[in-house]
Amino acid sequence: MNILILGSGGREHALAWKIKESKHCDKVFIAPGNAGTAAVGQNVPIDVNDFDAIKQFVIDNKVTMLVVGPEDPLVNGVYDYFQGQQDWKGMVIAPSRAGAQLEGSKAFSKKFMERHRIPTASYAEFNADNYQEGKTYIASHSLPVVLKADGLAAGKGVVIAQTHEEALKTFEEMILNKQFGEASSKVVIEQFLDGIEVSVFILTDGKDYKIIGHAKDYKRIGEGDTGLNTGGMGCVTPVPFMDTSFMEKVENQIIRPTVEGIAKEEIDYKGFIFFGLINVKGEPMVIEYNCRMGDPETEVIMPSLNADIVDLFLAVYYGGLNEVNIQPAVQSCVTVVAVSGGYPGSYEKGKKITLPELKQNNESLIFHAGTQLQGTDILTNGGRVLAITSFGENIEAAAEKSRQLLKDIHFDGIQYRKDIGYEFK
Ligand code: AMP
Ligand code: GLY
Repeated sequence: MNILILGSGGREHALAWKIKESKHCDKVFIAPGNAGTAAVGQNVPIDVNDFDAIKQFVIDNKVTMLVVGPEDPLVNGVYDYFQGQQDWKGMVIAPSRAGAQLEGSKAFSKKFMERHRIPTASYAEFNADNYQEGKTYIASHSLPVVLKADGLAAGKGVVIAQTHEEALKTFEEMILNKQFGEASSKVVIEQFLDGIEVSVFILTDGKDYKIIGHAKDYKRIGEGDTGLNTGGMGCVTPVPFMDTSFMEKVENQIIRPTVEGIAKEEIDYKGFIFFGLINVKGEPMVIEYNCRMGDPETEVIMPSLNADIVDLFLAVYYGGLNEVNIQPAVQSCVTVVAVSGGYPGSYEKGKKITLPELKQNNESLIFHAGTQLQGTDILTNGGRVLAITSFGENIEAAAEKSRQLLKDIHFDGIQYRKDIGYEFK
């Protein structure tokens, strides 16, 4: 079978690598892809939101499965678009537009959790019509107070305000000054939850589900979790505190009620759910839902997954997802992200990258995020450039392998955190 993946990051490189290993996969295409995906399959210069061009491509190239990486085309309704086509009847691994609202609207996801009694921070939602009420609500809210733009804001729509002044200013920026355009015309104000974050990933057909892994990511640019937020500087799996009893709580109190809620509300959903959780004194609560895999989480989840991912995708369409057996990972897996100098602020692109030959021992993998090919050169093409994934007998051993490999990876301005997994030493 021929499979097309939409996206161009480290997540899509890891998905392409895993899909290519499948016994079901003949050809893998990536639109638009990067220099790394070009080595796994064939890159196709099509925008992820150009659904007409994607349709023409899947017809012309006998693609029977479409796997969607990023949130944008999901929220824009790529699944629904293909449901409406008569001339292509392939499988689309994605939620419907309605399902993607779990990520596309914070207000929708909070109401969904309320309806299905899924533990999350208490909240209220405001817009221009009840702006004054919102100000009063914020003024008497305990600190810190969390403000979230309702819609997609490229990962920048959440502010944790330490003072009421900062919260009121942020509220004004979002609603009156439309800081994130339409995305901040509605704002969710919520209680701050104190604990350790962890993410759990499932694949679902909207009725059954399979847990495919979990990970802890490192969002801050600086060592010791300091400095600005980024898209993710590294990840580890498995996470030591995710023991059986905590995982049971996650499954019983969060995952199952979520999937049951989707089924009850008759939401068409044939894709991943990323549960952003926080462990508050041993109790899991939902910080956010994403309707896709995470990046860089995918760069540890896919290499650690002891299953044929296309078997799982086929089960989403043909049933039996609950019965697929996934053996737990025996080794720890860590990814360390190498970023451009200046990131997450402004940075330059087009720097030449030199990469070492990988030993054929399967202990480390190099996933490309923001890279592009120019002739035979690999150039930087984004903030997050590479994700260096390694296995080890524990988190520290795996992280050390990635750090060693990074010593042989060069581009102008390269930066990476040397402490990924530090708290699990
Ligand atoms: P989100 O875009 O919803 O994932 O939020 C981004 C980040 O903000 C999360 O990963 C958390 O680190 C933090 N965050 C969001 N909501 C809360 C909350 N209610 N309490 C504490 N931290 C939060
Ligand atoms: N690493 C966080 C995300 O993919 O949203």
